[in-house]
Amino acid sequence: MPIADPLSVLEDTQPDAERKGPARHAFFISTPRNLEPLLEEELRELGIVDVKQVYLGVEAKLSREEVYRVVYASRLASRVLRPLATFPCRNPDELYEHAVKFNWARILKEGQTLKVSASVSDSAITHSQYAALKLKDAVVDSLRERTGARPSIDRETPDVRLDLFLRHDQATISLYYSDGIMHRRGYRIQAVDAPLKENLAAAVLLFSKWKGDRPLVDLFCGSGTFLIEGAMIATHTPAGFFRETQGFETLPDFSESLWAKVKHEFTKAILPLPKGLITGVDISARAMAATRANLARTPWLDAVKLTQKDFAKLEGPYPDRTIVANPPYGVRLEDTQEGLQEFYKSLGQFLKTKCPDSKAYVLIPDKELEKEIWFKPERRLVIDNGALEVSVAEYSILPPREDAPARPDKADKAEKTEKAEKVEKPAKSEKAEKAAKPKTPPEK
Ligand SMILES: C[S@@+](CC[C@H](N)C(=O)[O-])C[C@H]1O[C@@H](n2cnc3c(N)ncnc32)[C@H](O)[C@@H]1O
Repeated sequence: MPIADPLSVLEDTQPDAERKGPARHAFFISTPRNLEPLLEEELRELGIVDVKQVYLGVEAKLSREEVYRVVYASRLASRVLRPLATFPCRNPDELYEHAVKFNWARILKEGQTLKVSASVSDSAITHSQYAALKLKDAVVDSLRERTGARPSIDRETPDVRLDLFLRHDQATISLYYSDGIMHRRGYRIQAVDAPLKENLAAAVLLFSKWKGDRPLVDLFCGSGTFLIEGAMIATHTPAGFFRETQGFETLPDFSESLWAKVKHEFTKAILPLPKGLITGVDISARAMAATRANLARTPWLDAVKLTQKDFAKLEGPYPDRTIVANPPYGVRLEDTQEGLQEFYKSLGQFLKTKCPDSKAYVLIPDKELEKEIWFKPERRLVIDNGALEVSVAEYSILPPREDAPARPDKADKAEKTEKAEKVEKPAKSEKAEKAAKPKTPPEK
């Protein structure tokens, strides 16, 4: 099959004479596992019509303006990629031979830097780094032959990023329109152990359908990810607002006027953050300092309420709130299974007695710990937090009962005894086994 020069399609971004409106091109927008439906919904809300869920992302047909909208505003996307070419590829030479024929000078201007990444699965080529190197060689050789210039490689801030996806001996080369991975929003300058990726925090908030309509409380705010993602949602601040570059500015089809129009459209809709709408709690002074440093990169340092305290000692009450909780789990060796069970039990107790009429979203790394919360979750969203699979459990906490005056201590005692009979006895040996086994720490 002859290889069309795939890079020529870039010029189709001019208005298409045969259709009304601008030409649209195929894009792949990646997202973490299980967020595909939320991403589709988010893109539809951004006005993208032609969008279809696939594994680990969505395929969408986008005009150039829509690409800018998605890259700038999507809270859930990880990468916005434009597939340039797909071809069979059974060995490194085949990869090189295909890729060297393309006129890469249409994409890389003289003096621009390049980065190539690759992922391979179920293919004859098994080393992703080697595959990336082969593709890089092909691009560099093609450019040298046509222009005499040799692009430099920049692993941090390249002008052009290419992605090679190799599966079942089928290669897809794509061009990044986002600036690498989009969970890097530009506001996190300090982190704590096991911070949540920004797009995962946004996913939990979008899963909860919180829009800033009632107070949000993060009981374990760490470096402030939920607080800042929440502030961005409540104020309609686009996810890319604090990024210095979006990625598409250095591509040959970049339109400065179109980008200025998109940016203006979003930034004029930004609202102020009501003071006290968002509260962050953390026991650690280090976490508080990280949250403050990160909030100081945004306009919301004064509007967000911060409390350094053990959540269990908070007096409350916190009625009619949205509560998020990403507790520490098994990060330190001294966090035994028993210790964690107690921790989750006291979290359940806290929610039940101090947060009437609220909704809580608790990140729980295993089913055993979920049982400690006492009441059953209404929905769950399973996400991958680094190497750990975590369930985000949604709890609806009942309003205080008027006919039964608050005697939570007694009621809880009775429930505890009942539960101890039901669960703890038969689970003993399993418990002891788990206590001896530290958990894999989440990716940092
Ligand atoms: C997994 S981290 C939260 C990470 C956070 N979501 C982020 O993205 O940065 C758990 C946090 O819980 C805090 N923590 C531990 N025990 C606590 C307690 N009893 N009360 C409040 N915070 C606590 C830790 O200091 C740590 O910052």
